[in-house]
Amino acid sequence: MTVRCFEKKDSLQVAKLFRNIVSNLEYYNDLAKEHEIDRYSEKKIIEKINDDPLSIIVAESGNEIIGICFNRFDDYTIWLEWILTNENYRKKGISRRLVNFLEQTAIERNCHKIWCDCRTSNSISKSFLKSVGFEFIATIENHWYKQDFILLQKKIDV
Ligand SMILES: CC(C)(COP(=O)(O)OP(=O)(O)OC[C@H]1O[C@@H](n2cnc3c(N)ncnc32)[C@H](O)[C@@H]1OP(=O)(O)O)[C@@H](O)C(=O)NCCC(=O)NCCS
Repeated sequence: MTVRCFEKKDSLQVAKLFRNIVSNLEYYNDLAKEHEIDRYSEKKIIEKINDDPLSIIVAESGNEIIGICFNRFDDYTIWLEWILTNENYRKKGISRRLVNFLEQTAIERNCHKIWCDCRTSNSISKSFLKSVGFEFIATIENHWYKQDFILLQKKIDV
């Protein structure tokens, strides 16, 4: 398995994997799913990568994309937008490796911190984020898509 920056040839696979996972997630309402799936369509993924070549990291096994990390530069912090692993490859350390790679790109971008949100009900993601070094900041109720979230941060030694 390789973790690397996104290349344009990955766009179809990345959009498809994202759509398949997000459309089946129990934590988000229909509005959230519809909006997020549209935000990471094949076309918008290409626009995103043209803006920032480090903003999509992928895990690949053979020729198959099995993990994705969408992120963005946010005023000298990195906002972790989404991290996902194909269901058949979970609990094998793939997302941990995506976060490690993201940290290296954060350092390259002069950022001292990665932060993100997580649905309050997503206990697997909360456990994952804690395990890779994120700490709780706050709970924000009735927020994006009228749902409840927590904010977390991971400080980076620079
Ligand atoms: C959350 C998610 C990204 C984790 O990906 P993963 O590749 O399976 O995670 P890893 O194998 O790297 O796990 C690293 C650590 O996270 C924790 N973890 C991962 N899955 C877990 C689970 N199902 N239950 C409890 N802890 C878990 C463990 O501490 C694990 O370390 P360990 O294997 O040494 O015990 C994956 O479950 C996923 O894609 N979920 C659906 C999408 C989603 O909700 N994404 C987060 C919102 S942005």
